[in-house]
Amino acid sequence: MIDTKELSFLKRTIELAKRGLGGVSPNPYVGAILVSAEGEVLGEGYHKKYGGPHAEVLAIQDAQERDGGLNAYKIEGSTLYCSLEPCSHTNKQTPPCTDLIIRKKIKKVVILSVDPNPAVNGSGIAKLLASGIEAYSLTRNSGNSGNNGNSGSNGKEIEAEQSLENTLVREAYKLNQVFFKYISKHQPFVHLKWAQTLDGCVATKGGDSKWVTSENLRREGHKLRLTYDAILVGINTFLNDNPKLDVRYSLLEERKALDDVIARNPYRIIVGNFNKLNLTVLKSLTMLNDELVNRTIIFTPEVFTKEIKHFLYKLRDERGLRFFETKNVLANSRVSLQEVLNQLASLKISSMLVEGGPTITTEFIKQKLFDKISVFMAAKIVGEGLKAIGDLSIFKMSDSINFKIDEVEHIGEELAITLRNCSGLSK
Ligand SMILES: NC(=O)c1ccc[n+]([C@@H]2O[C@H](COP(=O)([O-])OP(=O)(O)OC[C@H]3O[C@@H](n4cnc5c(N)ncnc54)[C@H](OP(=O)(O)O)[C@@H]3O)[C@@H](O)[C@H]2O)c1
Repeated sequence: MIDTKELSFLKRTIELAKRGLGGVSPNPYVGAILVSAEGEVLGEGYHKKYGGPHAEVLAIQDAQERDGGLNAYKIEGSTLYCSLEPCSHTNKQTPPCTDLIIRKKIKKVVILSVDPNPAVNGSGIAKLLASGIEAYSLTRNSGNSGNNGNSGSNGKEIEAEQSLENTLVREAYKLNQVFFKYISKHQPFVHLKWAQTLDGCVATKGGDSKWVTSENLRREGHKLRLTYDAILVGINTFLNDNPKLDVRYSLLEERKALDDVIARNPYRIIVGNFNKLNLTVLKSLTMLNDELVNRTIIFTPEVFTKEIKHFLYKLRDERGLRFFETKNVLANSRVSLQEVLNQLASLKISSMLVEGGPTITTEFIKQKLFDKISVFMAAKIVGEGLKAIGDLSIFKMSDSINFKIDEVEHIGEELAITLRNCSGLSK
């Protein structure tokens, strides 16, 4: 078992990694910290943007430059703590981190998560070990294990250290679960989110949905948006609510204020049959008019209505709208959600927040095409109304779909509940 001091360095790698939130996709979030043989922090780094230097490189660079390079000589023989396994492959924009670690004669590397990227997946650790560096991850014992029982702790301390170690491993996993899915399954991570009343409605029976929850909880929703590559809605929500689906509450500006971090609005995806729309209404909708048109993506069955086709092609050619007429149309003339996910993966969109409405959300559930659910619940009831989830053809309670509750957060008088997909549900 590694000791409390080392665990605190690993905890710091997660804090650092989180500073890249919203900027590195489809890369993982990574933090690294370099510590001298005497236990002093020499340098810190985190991955800030896709294509930019990795956390390990920045931590070493920081150690070389801090205090005018006063402690740079201590890099040799130091320990590098990383939230994710250092890369060892060359088929990317930056050179392998393992080469730099070896060149700098770092003595030990402690890692929270192994990188499941088939191009890495333990080979980073293997390369370090082959160069005589003590290297191991807390999620997989490779070579020198951290569990050597030499920390000198008593029973209670060992228990506390073990529990902190488990918490950190879990946190590191949660931090990069989007990346882990995308890199191993080549499919975007799908997070379903809706806001409902206590009696399960997302709108009144008159269709009014503004607003189900308070401003505080809506702000939390925008924080979620910031961390996803894309937000998807069904065509009815696009028409009825005329949403903008951008990140508000100055959250983008706050991210931008962090050095070198990229902050951008997610792509906005609309799924539905555009043949049924009225051109005048279509022309008036925000997502086809605002400054983010080049971040709007439409998935529709082939459009036969000439005027609508002309309008959408014009927006595509002149303003960068992405417009897909999907080949794979279901029996009810609906777009195949699996095809949408395949297309998004090929656009390097690694994660998506589905913000409704109930028809399309229900379909994601029916087809088991989701990884996580967030229910934002207001302490109010409306009686009859538009239910959050539609028919699932379930007649027996024993056939109900069950979830694991990952987190319940009280925000004022309201709740944000995060549910994990149980085994067998996700494809
Ligand atoms: N409280 C909340 O969190 C929240 C969030 C969002 C929306 N809402 C409310 O929900 C209302 C709209 O919900 P809704 O259920 O009527 O519509 P929706 O889910 O927004 O859109 C449904 C439409 O999506 C299209 N679609 C395309 N492919 C599909 C597929 N594979 N499976 C299912 N649908 C597919 C279908 O239209 P085509 O037949 O044209 O393809 C379908 O009618 C809005 O008025 C809004 O106020 C509430």
